[in-house]
Amino acid sequence: MLSSPHLLGIKNITKEDIQLIFNTAEQFKEVINRPIKKVPSLRDTTVANLFFENSTRTRISFELAEKRLSADVVNFSAASSSVKKGETLLDTVNNILSMKVDIVVMRHPAPGAHHFLSQHIDASIINAGDGTHEHPTQALLDAFSIREKLGTLQDVKVVICGDIKHSRVALSNIFCLQKMGAKVKVCGPPTLIPKHLPELGVGVEYDIKKALEWCDVANILRIQLERQDIKYIPSLREYGLYFGVDKSLLDSLDKEIVIMHPGPINRGVEITSDVADSKQSIILDQVENGVAIRMAVLYLLAEKRNQNA
Ligand code: CP
Repeated sequence: MLSSPHLLGIKNITKEDIQLIFNTAEQFKEVINRPIKKVPSLRDTTVANLFFENSTRTRISFELAEKRLSADVVNFSAASSSVKKGETLLDTVNNILSMKVDIVVMRHPAPGAHHFLSQHIDASIINAGDGTHEHPTQALLDAFSIREKLGTLQDVKVVICGDIKHSRVALSNIFCLQKMGAKVKVCGPPTLIPKHLPELGVGVEYDIKKALEWCDVANILRIQLERQDIKYIPSLREYGLYFGVDKSLLDSLDKEIVIMHPGPINRGVEITSDVADSKQSIILDQVENGVAIRMAVLYLLAEKRNQNA
């Protein structure tokens, strides 16, 4: 049983919680590869997907996971809602909950929005990304994909490259990988690496070649221009020249590393197509594993909710 009734972030869950999610996801991965992909586990459970920010992978992945578990699903997108007419977050969510919703999956631009909601409403909350803070299901599917590829996370060396400062994926990955025994470094321009990172036990490398020579796995992130109020790099072209991962850089290493990317990819900036689509890349495995991981999280939170009822 999970230790918490919500999944607000990776920072506050235990290694045992992560292990339980992985074990459950392994079983659901087998289910979704069968001809009949649906199980009745969440029958009579209603899930609301509330997206106050854009999403492709996370939103579709959660909706598929919910439908594979036979949940009743309602979708809300801020762009076409009464939020545009001035309604508060709490009013919006309370109105949706009056329709008897059990689990809320939410993406919101404000760090801590999920924590705030969890203190005011009765549903279980899953964080599908809160601003630059956390993206826990992305970190779980990333760590699960590494473990699937390499057989273990213990002592695996992972470098996270790119815009660390604005990345919720980076922070959740750091917490998740460290809890599971991996070693983590970050690499990027000094302006995009927060000064406090060494306090989290994370190594910092500013030279992409040295970072790739050190690691077993490189998780490559995009530059989040939409979150940058000032210029942190001279141009995307220069970023690509100094920090972009291309085939010649990979071929110059004396080993074969695993390539990951959470998406969306900006091809030709942080990663070239011949790397993203290479046999070293597990980017589409990450997407496939996302459904199994989200099924596991939904199933385990529903189980916890039923126990507390
Ligand atoms: N990885 C990820 O969060 O992608 P989306 O923004 O498309 O959901």
